[in-house]
Amino acid sequence: MSKGYNISEIAEMFNITTNKIRFYEKKGLLAPTREYDNQYRRFSEEDIVRLQSVLTYRSIGLSVDSIKNILKNNGKENYLTHFNNQWQLVNDEIHRLNTIRKSLEQVMDKIYEETDDFNVKDNLLEIISESNKLNDIKNQWKDKWNFNNWARSYDKDVKKDIGELKIYKNYDLILQKVYDLVEALGRSDLRILEIGVGTGNLAGKFLNSGYNIIGIDQSREMLSVAKEKHPKLKVRLGEFLKIPYENKSFDVIISTYAFHHLNETEKYIAIEEIMRVLKDNGVIIMGDLMFESKASEEEILKVLPQSLVEEIKDEYYSYIDLLKAAFEKYNKKFEHYRVDKLNYIIVVHEQMDFHRK
Ligand SMILES: C[S@@+](CC[C@H](N)C(=O)[O-])C[C@H]1O[C@@H](n2cnc3c(N)ncnc32)[C@H](O)[C@@H]1O
Repeated sequence: MSKGYNISEIAEMFNITTNKIRFYEKKGLLAPTREYDNQYRRFSEEDIVRLQSVLTYRSIGLSVDSIKNILKNNGKENYLTHFNNQWQLVNDEIHRLNTIRKSLEQVMDKIYEETDDFNVKDNLLEIISESNKLNDIKNQWKDKWNFNNWARSYDKDVKKDIGELKIYKNYDLILQKVYDLVEALGRSDLRILEIGVGTGNLAGKFLNSGYNIIGIDQSREMLSVAKEKHPKLKVRLGEFLKIPYENKSFDVIISTYAFHHLNETEKYIAIEEIMRVLKDNGVIIMGDLMFESKASEEEILKVLPQSLVEEIKDEYYSYIDLLKAAFEKYNKKFEHYRVDKLNYIIVVHEQMDFHRK
């Protein structure tokens, strides 16, 4: 008889049921040999190591199919695909549950505080449907520009300042200005988050100066390029609407050329998210395409040819007056200045005497 373990021994070893082991075998994750005379399963040391991996991957929620794929192809890209997918699933679930928890709190407060208990029902349904709506918006954001496709040529295109609008003509200046504004805070111990990190051009500046910076982006390809250029940069998949971090995690949040991929409703949700992960006294610095107001947009657009108007309308430039009002609701000071016709930098901070270079 070959050396090895039977199914009951394995079940005991891992404190799981024999049915679970049979299930993994049926799914092709395990392939124990069979004894010649009675067809009983025999598990080798290799099977044990494999089962250990399966159980560990299951413990972080990986699907059986993903595990099968990982075990088949242990290349770096394959691992990254599965773990990034899982990271996204877990993060989505955290956001979904947090929204539910928030609406439960509101619902319970309403019930506690309402004196006439049957008047309360409509209010409850409204709170719950608002929270569902919020989750739907967060989950429906789509990359209609296909940044994965653009990632490999992005840096070259920016240098060439492609596009008739010439929105990249001050690209280097804008990135440098954002960097200088953070430097002016005079602190090297800052925890910085860059949202929409792209190919890592801005994050790279901070990394090279020894700052603690993490870059998130919704595009895996952008993150791959950023990582190739800056191997030490921490990058994660993540979206403005579902930032994959805990409350009050960052001293500074920066972003360039990214916020205009959110429509107006999404921008307000993103601001709530940014404020959630920003520490008290934290600072937000964003360079992006903006108009001072809807009226100034009209002024600018009316002298542009139709093709350029369409290019602008394909994205969602912010209105500075609306952004200002949105951040002021959080008792933040808001400053902005114009870099060129369409590019602005905004600074959102606590103190009146925020020092700019
Ligand atoms: C034009 S690129 C700018 C990249 C980089 N910030 C720079 O200044 O070069 C826009 C980046 O924002 C990312 N992005 C767009 N919408 C996003 C969202 N909702 N959440 C996270 N990243 C987003 C894109 O994937 C892309 O990498």
